[in-house]
Amino acid sequence: MKIFLDSADLEEIKKAKSYGILEGVTTNPSLIKKAAKARSVKDLEVYIKEILKVCKGIPVSLEVIGSNYEDMFNEGKLLFKKFNPVAKNVYIKIPINPSLKKGDGKKSDGIKAIKALTKLGIPVNCTLIFTPEQALLAAIAGAKFVSPFAGREDDFIRESAGLKFDKKTHFPVEGLRKGKRILNDNGIYSGIDLIEEIVEIFENKDISCEVLAASLRNPRQVREAALVGADIATIPLDVIESLLDHEKTREGMKGFTKDTIPEYSKIFKKSKNKRK
Ligand code: E4P
Repeated sequence: MKIFLDSADLEEIKKAKSYGILEGVTTNPSLIKKAAKARSVKDLEVYIKEILKVCKGIPVSLEVIGSNYEDMFNEGKLLFKKFNPVAKNVYIKIPINPSLKKGDGKKSDGIKAIKALTKLGIPVNCTLIFTPEQALLAAIAGAKFVSPFAGREDDFIRESAGLKFDKKTHFPVEGLRKGKRILNDNGIYSGIDLIEEIVEIFENKDISCEVLAASLRNPRQVREAALVGADIATIPLDVIESLLDHEKTREGMKGFTKDTIPEYSKIFKKSKNKRK
């Protein structure tokens, strides 16, 4: 599973890049808002171009803001034309269904935009996926990535049952039992279950679209996304860093440091002196 950073913050992107394990970056309008505020960004276009330069060689997803076919298609073309020449690494993020109001007749505008942008050779990351069916249609329309939102799916299942919860806490893959019933969203028991079903459907039909697990809030969820076969996980920086944590690792380090005998240290000192 490839690791992407879920952030539009240039300093976070540089930091994650320096770890040498980063294979992509995803942004969305909320992440852009957060970064622009945190870094007091004066010129957003220049800032985005800087992100793209820093990420040369790995994909960066930029999202459209429209909520109908025409706007999304035009914005996708504009974003690609304006930003892709910088480092040739732009993917356009298109919501699967841009409707803001139930029954506004725009349900299919997402797949139409995906199809039209794909026809122009523009790679699409289809976002806001909450059902395997949405993922299937996005892939058929030509999306290169589909982004199921695991954390938000877990939120939805808990909210629908009226539960109080902390978004960062682990949610069981197999779902939560409440009385006799296991909480679910039309047969989806958790965000990770959603990812697993998409992976299975794509495998059944040899669909090459990659499953990008999004909205991951804790290390265990990242592990579970890998276990169910997600191709990519997009993760906030603090969660990437917490993937490296374990109390016993720290304890072990302290022990090894304390036990190091002078003769052993000397070997390293000699080579350090030589390097000087
Ligand atoms: C993915 O591309 C989304 O930007 C992101 O993962 C959403 O995460 P959140 O639900 O924690 O906001």
